[in-house]
Amino acid sequence: MRKMKSLILFVAVCVCSYAYNLHMSVSGKTASEKDKGAITFTKQIAPIFQNRCEECHRQGGVAPMPLATYEEVRPWARAICEKVISREMPPFHAVGPIGRYRDDPRLTEDEITMITRWVDDGSPKGLLKDMPPPREWKSKWAHGDPDLIVKVKQPYTVSASDKDQYVFFVFDYVFPEDTWIRAVDTRPGNYKVVHHANTHVVPPMFKAPAEGFITGDFELGARGIVMLAGWAPGVQSVLLAEGTGVKIPKGMRLGIQIHYAPTGQESTDQTSVGIYFADGLIKKHIKILFGDRRDLEIPAGDPNYTLTATKTLETDALIRFFHVHMHLRGKSYVMKLTYPDGKQEVALEVPRYNFNWQRTYLLTEPLRVPKGTKVEFTGTYDNSPKNKFNPDPSKTIGWGEKTTDEMMQGRIFYEAVDENLNVKVKKGIAIRGTDTANKEK
Ligand code: HEC
Repeated sequence: MRKMKSLILFVAVCVCSYAYNLHMSVSGKTASEKDKGAITFTKQIAPIFQNRCEECHRQGGVAPMPLATYEEVRPWARAICEKVISREMPPFHAVGPIGRYRDDPRLTEDEITMITRWVDDGSPKGLLKDMPPPREWKSKWAHGDPDLIVKVKQPYTVSASDKDQYVFFVFDYVFPEDTWIRAVDTRPGNYKVVHHANTHVVPPMFKAPAEGFITGDFELGARGIVMLAGWAPGVQSVLLAEGTGVKIPKGMRLGIQIHYAPTGQESTDQTSVGIYFADGLIKKHIKILFGDRRDLEIPAGDPNYTLTATKTLETDALIRFFHVHMHLRGKSYVMKLTYPDGKQEVALEVPRYNFNWQRTYLLTEPLRVPKGTKVEFTGTYDNSPKNKFNPDPSKTIGWGEKTTDEMMQGRIFYEAVDENLNVKVKKGIAIRGTDTANKEK
């Protein structure tokens, strides 16, 4: 992502909010509005940045520069203005009303107007007494300290090459019992080089070499390795609802596939994964309705190639969150529901898919849908030179695990309304006699 500089959309316009007003076709500010008093960093802007930017733009965060103090923000004022108008920042790619998704960082129209006017007015600092107390970022982990932390054995050296590098690390820890978990959180050791990091469950028959890792972009699925959770910048860890879990079978280990993006300089990384165990009464598995097609054949140069997979929900379901996975030619994605009575609803729409920001879209309110609901998963691809991420528009592209091949995956994570496993667990492990339900993962 660092190598892919975004387009500057408003190069020719020097006054940022003027561009915004043109863009949004609303009128410019009136004299009376202007008299209302200046917008200052300390009073109006800092609170917005604390809420919407600091998650990534803080010391040790995933973004390249912190945006917490005036001194940190001031040099970026013009760039900030452009990025918020184009809605490239904060990064969020689903549509729907603000608030539909949890941890939705999108700015409101009012907030964008506020920021652009502040920049136009010369980005004044304001009075110190107006400055809100600094936002505290307590644990570096998403949900407090995890129950189990596994770490790559030793720092891995990412070579100075300018080629993408894939490494699969296997952790030593072996689950001593079937273990119910509620969340996985990934902490890259070096945000500058870790592009993606996907945690997997590794079966005992998979033997890792002594050094604990294998290099190269290989097919994990063929070796019985199953993905558990993904990390990329902006992908937040999901804590499953109370009473819901994922069971990791006894004897399994964890592994992590890391895609290192080239920086041109040699560097090191040592990534960790935190696991949160479930505790108390487990009633439900988290289930996945998986929309997938492997018969992609995207013609060279095609700007608009579309493919649909259809699946049906076999139970009444409570939909919790969504995930979409395509590669560099991915352009947009839609999941459309058709209810048994024929009514239709768009469950998720990502109109401008971006490979670099594969967020989990977690609904604030779960969506209850009846048994028999049909889901159409539709992915659209741009294999033309107009797609700035396209490494080679002259090639016909098929399915594959490499980022230069394509995938078409949509996942709906849901709970079955009538499921009641009724397993009592302590620190993830079933209390003897209560785990009578399903033996599958
Ligand atoms: C989810 C994480 C995240 C959030 C939230 C976020 N950013 Fe960013 N931002 C990044 C990352 C990562 C980059 C660098 C890569 C890129 O440009 O895509 C970046 C880049 C930028 C840049 C461009 C820097 C450059 O080198 O040109 C600006 C300006 C920016 N962000 C402003 C903001 C503002 C303002 C907010 C809040 C209103 C915000 N961002 C929220 C992650 C985030």
